[in-house]
Amino acid sequence: MKRLRVLSVASEVYPLVKTGGLADVVAALPAALAREGVETRTLVPGYPGVIDALHGAEAIHTHAHLHGGPARLLAAHAAGLDLLVLDAPHLYARPGNPYLGPDGAPWADNALRFAALAQCAASIARGAVPGFAPDVVQAHDWQAGLVPALLHYAGGPRPGTVMTVHNLAFQGQFPPELLATIGLPPHAYGIDGVEYYGTIGYLKAGLALADRITTVSPTYAAEILTPEGGMGLDGLLRHRADVLTGILNGIDDALWNPETDVHLVQRFDASHLARRAANKAALQARLGLDVAPSAFLFGVVSRLTLQKGMDLLLEALPTLIRHGAQLALLGAGDKPLEDAFAAAAARIPGRLAAVIGYGESLAHLMQGSVDALLVPSRFEPCGLTQLCALRYGAVPVVARVGGLADTVIDADESAPAAGTGTGIQFAPVSRGNLELAIGRAVALWRDVGTWRALQARAMATDVGWTRPARHYAALFRALAAHRPA
Ligand code: ADP
Ligand code: GLC
Repeated sequence: MKRLRVLSVASEVYPLVKTGGLADVVAALPAALAREGVETRTLVPGYPGVIDALHGAEAIHTHAHLHGGPARLLAAHAAGLDLLVLDAPHLYARPGNPYLGPDGAPWADNALRFAALAQCAASIARGAVPGFAPDVVQAHDWQAGLVPALLHYAGGPRPGTVMTVHNLAFQGQFPPELLATIGLPPHAYGIDGVEYYGTIGYLKAGLALADRITTVSPTYAAEILTPEGGMGLDGLLRHRADVLTGILNGIDDALWNPETDVHLVQRFDASHLARRAANKAALQARLGLDVAPSAFLFGVVSRLTLQKGMDLLLEALPTLIRHGAQLALLGAGDKPLEDAFAAAAARIPGRLAAVIGYGESLAHLMQGSVDALLVPSRFEPCGLTQLCALRYGAVPVVARVGGLADTVIDADESAPAAGTGTGIQFAPVSRGNLELAIGRAVALWRDVGTWRALQARAMATDVGWTRPARHYAALFRALAAHRPA
């Protein structure tokens, strides 16, 4: 089989820079693709966390002026990936969140920061890196959305382009006056091009002009074709439905493995579920919860936003407490939600604990400890935390939307008997239905045999990257085959 070459373009890559699941996907997919004969090089901006991780980087190109300062393209092996890094200190050498300044507002020059990334990607796609002629360019989310547009308008031979949507809620819209500055011709500014409600839409550009569109679950692929789920882009997406595919995410099942996880107090597998008790006790103690094996422990590992339904969970807390349960929450995001969870935890110590912040190690301990992981999202393109939960026997209690619907099988009245359930789903997403789902989880848990069987089925779910990578590889090959060399 011919080796295929893919240039993956993204603004996040775990563990170097991460605000969400995008980083995990960008980091984990290449190794799985390599097993399918697909070689990936990953282009990311030179944020401080990326530059610090590079050792022995080679400078392939230099630009005297790239949107206001000098830039270099560096090649290095880091984080297990073949990285290409756009080192442009005037654009990326800023600590903290990659998109937001210290005041919490988007950086004023984001249009240029991500145009630079896309322009660099387009030059690599056209052969700027010696010995690396990509067959396919995969652009992740709006930060890379201009790549298909730049290649389209440049004309001439080019690789196939794939726009991968991780979250339609973030679209990257900028003033039309920037058109020439970001390397686009005047005729690009039209309804069939990059124009989007009077702005330049970076994600819109990618969706309009990529050869293929993928998103991260089949159900989300269907949801975004509707006005309710399309966030203003459903018309365009319906128009392009023939090139849209939903491919489920996986997780790195070596990184997320309860048999080897160094963050756990006690490691375990599906045949030794009783060992989780030591983790639960340790977590309860660490978070100041009552160390009570007999209290059902719910967990949350999440951005604290409306997407994630965290406001509904706040409202459901009295019900959760009434069921005698506890909640351990690890999350960061919208300030009002952070404050509300912190205040709730302060009111009911021993039963509610909220760790506001980001904690990789604690996330692992939580997955290996909690009885159930709550994911009450209003929409969820795929979701990775429920996949980790399945793998760790933390029964996922999820809203039936997007990738949550595709990855968790509801243990309804018939499913445990039929031996199929892996978690609990509820729909439509409302406070009342979340409360009912919480109640169902606690009731199922009271029957130890039923619960253990549910956990074991959850842990037997295939959540790795092998299957999704096959799907991507087939899509990339089909695309490359239909393009003249
Ligand atoms: P999203 O990308 O929408 O935030 P995902 O479920 O796809 O949601 O991915 C979230 C990723 O970020 C997962 O790897 C999850 O473990 C991690 N994560 C989210 N919040 C935190 C946190 N507060 N601390 C540690 N890890 C977190
Ligand atoms: C986005 C989505 C999430 C998805 C992740 C990785 O952040 O919100 O559902 O799992 O991207 O694709």
